[in-house]
Amino acid sequence: MAILGLVLLSASLGSCGSDKSKLPPPPPPPTSGPLKTTNNTGYRTPALHGPVPRNPDMNLRADYTKGAGISFSRIPMADKYIAITFDDGPHPKNTPRLLNMLRARNIKATFYMVGSNVDLYPQVVRRVVAEGHEIGNHSYSHRLFSKMSDSEIRQELSRTRDAVQRAAGVQPLTLRPPFGGMLTRQREWVNAEFGYPIILWSIDPLDWKRPGPSVVCSRIVSATTPGSIILAHDLHGQTVDAMPATLDGLLQRGFKFVTVSQLLAMRGEMATARVTVKAPVH
Ligand code: NI
Repeated sequence: MAILGLVLLSASLGSCGSDKSKLPPPPPPPTSGPLKTTNNTGYRTPALHGPVPRNPDMNLRADYTKGAGISFSRIPMADKYIAITFDDGPHPKNTPRLLNMLRARNIKATFYMVGSNVDLYPQVVRRVVAEGHEIGNHSYSHRLFSKMSDSEIRQELSRTRDAVQRAAGVQPLTLRPPFGGMLTRQREWVNAEFGYPIILWSIDPLDWKRPGPSVVCSRIVSATTPGSIILAHDLHGQTVDAMPATLDGLLQRGFKFVTVSQLLAMRGEMATARVTVKAPVH
């Protein structure tokens, strides 16, 4: 690696030297000819002079900035803050059981609730809010947004928002689209209209496939890094069964749990400032 670096360095220094004899001759000055129009096919691409380095062919998106401040799957940072999220509830038995586990450990989580379940179990929603957790919008009927019209999406989101408001007196702060499927255009107008950041995830234990609590636990604990957003489902009893060991494992590794909107607030200045002052870990 060091040798390669030296070679590259000397090669780049060499190409920046002042030895003009090695440079290709300059292209001929442009001649004033007729203006190029669609009727004028006389234009010729100038000939290349000498061998030159070639930039690799790359197939990159040109709209990378689109949605850059709208969608998040993790927040890069040095400090060991993470957000754990529970989707598709509330569930009348599993969610209260999970709430007990979270309360015992002083952990605040984020619940991406499905509006139809909010209407079925408003008392669970009230407890979630009363115990300091955060609620996110996960649509009303859990259908794939990318195949829905704008007005259908608008209805899904406003119905859930209103159901949460009715149940617990608060509104969802962020949105997780069902299955994570949402077009860039949809993310943009929903963000503009509802104000929701679109929250995906960086850790997915595939707990909905019911691989067993110990597998769910080990997948989450081994993969979590600072700034992770963990996806789990309080709809499934097995996921809740996995939580005591998972939460303890993450706490023992030094992670600190915050809600999604708290994690989002750490992006930018604070996260980068802390990266620069952090001593290197060997
Ligand atoms: Ni879901």
